[in-house]
Amino acid sequence: MAYNLLKGKRGIIFGALDSNSIAWKVAERAYEEGATFTLTNVPVALRMGETQKLAEKCNTEVIPADATNVEDLEKLIVRSMEVLGGKLDFILHSIGMSPNIRKGKHYSDLDYGFLDKTLDVSALSFHKVMQTAKKLDAINEWGSVLALSYVAAQRTFYGYNDMADAKSLLESIARSFGYIYGREKNVRVNTISQSPTPTTAGSGVKGFDRLLDFSERMSPLGNASADECADYCIVMFSDLTKKVTMQNLFNDGGFSSMGMSLQAMEQYNKGFQLSDDPKHKYD
Ligand SMILES: NC(=O)c1ccc[n+]([C@@H]2O[C@H](COP(=O)([O-])OP(=O)(O)OC[C@H]3O[C@@H](n4cnc5c(N)ncnc54)[C@H](O)[C@@H]3O)[C@@H](O)[C@H]2O)c1
Repeated sequence: MAYNLLKGKRGIIFGALDSNSIAWKVAERAYEEGATFTLTNVPVALRMGETQKLAEKCNTEVIPADATNVEDLEKLIVRSMEVLGGKLDFILHSIGMSPNIRKGKHYSDLDYGFLDKTLDVSALSFHKVMQTAKKLDAINEWGSVLALSYVAAQRTFYGYNDMADAKSLLESIARSFGYIYGREKNVRVNTISQSPTPTTAGSGVKGFDRLLDFSERMSPLGNASADECADYCIVMFSDLTKKVTMQNLFNDGGFSSMGMSLQAMEQYNKGFQLSDDPKHKYD
């Protein structure tokens, strides 16, 4: 159901790769709610993915940009303001990638070149987006900037690897930049910490299916879907949340406040067996 929550608002949505992407769902909902926006992704993703289809559906333009490249970001933001006919009201940063995860590198045997890339793509790019937007004075007062995070920023999750460090940095950037952007321009900056969600990035995490199941059993309201994440993003972009800033907001069915649930305990009891393979002892 649409409520016209974003009527007249202009934005940029990063990270819609295919119809499973969280950013894809946000774009569909933002369009329904009356927003105009541009879509952006790295050129290789635009070749492989289906972003153009989404642009047609949302009656908009796709502007290629590598979010780690400041020159690309400048061009993207300037072009977006031209296409949309004015300054922006919202930005969604929905970007994550770890070459260490892709190449199966263990957290205690990281490739540091890959780690630089993980942090640059998944966290520093958020700073770059905001620094570029601020220098161009591209965001209207009470604008809203959002990035997507995961609870591995606060707690350790098997298999999440160096993305945990990236998410901690991402959330810290939201606070640090949120202070400056709020003080100087009344722009709010937040992260939404989302449940595990079956997308291209999500499914890359080791043991993802089991993580999804565990998290579902642990959350009193169950995992939040990509559509439910999109709903939350829309509210955060709307004028209904004008004084919410510098927060990490959990959209996780209660998972982050749980210790152990009955459902998870029952499953654990059923499947209880000790691994005697020493290889897996410290995995
Ligand atoms: N899927 C999950 O379980 C989950 C849970 C919590 C948070 N998140 C976060 O949600 C966000 C979106 O991921 P998703 O799950 O929709 O997966 P996705 O794979 O659909 O989206 C990730 C996007 O990042 C883009 N990207 C990668 N490198 C880039 C670069 N250099 N410049 C610009 N874009 C680049 C990819 O092309 C892709 O579109 C990520 O930050 C992810 O960490 C995902």
